[in-house]
Amino acid sequence: MNIVLKKCVLREWRWEDKDSLIKNADNIKVARMVKDRFPYPYDETAADNWLKIATHDFPQTNFAIVIKDQAVGGISFESQGDIFRRSAEIGYWLGEDYWNKGVMTEAVKAITAFAFQNFDLCRLYAGVFATNPASVRVLEKSGYIFEGRLRKSITKFGQTIDQLLFAKVL
Ligand SMILES: CC(C)(COP(=O)(O)OP(=O)(O)OC[C@H]1O[C@@H](n2cnc3c(N)ncnc32)[C@H](O)[C@@H]1OP(=O)(O)O)[C@@H](O)C(=O)NCCC(=O)NCCS
Repeated sequence: MNIVLKKCVLREWRWEDKDSLIKNADNIKVARMVKDRFPYPYDETAADNWLKIATHDFPQTNFAIVIKDQAVGGISFESQGDIFRRSAEIGYWLGEDYWNKGVMTEAVKAITAFAFQNFDLCRLYAGVFATNPASVRVLEKSGYIFEGRLRKSITKFGQTIDQLLFAKVL
């Protein structure tokens, strides 16, 4: 599944993305804003572990963000199951070289539309670290609404901080 946008293409992950994945993901400025399951350092083993999963993604909910044929980031959504089955968490990251050019706003808008159109979802949400104003802006620009501050809900790299909950509902 390819979603062709103005600034990037969203497509399935491929094994040939490995080098560009490591190059863009192995960055403390990326790692510090995401869950621990996104490894740091992001080495060859990390890339192998991810691509083993992501290259068998069906139905497709994980997308590589591709610019000039290079996978420079990722975006995904994950249905929460059980009574939360119509809710999905959206997550995303982008290589630092590509920040502040509107790429993620374009990607979040597109994946939000894709998720609502193709899955039985009525809620997409993101929990942003309170220390991440850029991600807050991405969500605001993509039509997500601030729902609340989950105080001291995140512990990352030894610091316990608040999480800002944003959601878009149908
Ligand atoms: C957060 C992230 C996804 C943003 O991607 P991006 O492609 O640079 O986002 P965009 O260019 O679409 O929008 C960024 C917005 O944040 C703003 N911004 C950037 N740094 C900022 C800061 N320190 N304070 C306030 N606003 C900031 C930009 O000005 C822009 O807003 P504008 O269009 O109103 O000027 C990217 O920085 C990233 O991958 N960071 C590391 C991983 C991460 O944070 N993932 C999200 C976890 S919830």
